[in-house]
Amino acid sequence: YEDRRPQTSLVLVGLMGVGKSTIGRRLAARLGLPFVDADDEIERAAGMSIQEIFDTFGEAQFRDGERRVIARLIDGTPKVIATGGGAFVNEDTRRLILDKAVAIWLDANIDILVERVSRRDGRPLLRNRNAREVLTQLADERRPFYSQAPIRVMSSDSPHDATIDKIMKAIG
Ligand code: S3P
Repeated sequence: YEDRRPQTSLVLVGLMGVGKSTIGRRLAARLGLPFVDADDEIERAAGMSIQEIFDTFGEAQFRDGERRVIARLIDGTPKVIATGGGAFVNEDTRRLILDKAVAIWLDANIDILVERVSRRDGRPLLRNRNAREVLTQLADERRPFYSQAPIRVMSSDSPHDATIDKIMKAIG
């Protein structure tokens, strides 16, 4: 019996809508690791939705809470962690992830992202804005950060099986 479970956590980074949570959950099941969604943990810790945290405290405070939650998750037993799209852009959070875990940049073309974000509300950066415009701009701004992840996988169109296979191959 060959144990393929990684010794450190795998952290999925990349833009909103790329499928970090869905793919992360299924990747974790394949690897026999726990799965945690960092945004869900932040909401649980704050007792508020991400939208409410942004509205009440602002983005800077959200980033601070996000860093603390991710630090705690990474320090525990190995798991698959899905992060919010801005986590890896924050200098401190990125450093933490690069130092203590294996970052996987999930990338996709803009049409896929636009289609997928339309399935769920509650993203403060997209509220009352044109998703294609925002995502195009964020893709440009964030590429220099996401590209620091040691692994990049292009998310195929659904179903996600092909993407998960690519990740399995990349992590060996
Ligand atoms: C954000 C992405 C969101 C959430 C917050 C900010 C971002 O997570 O953390 O709305 O800055 O890209 P998802 O990538 O899971 O949508």
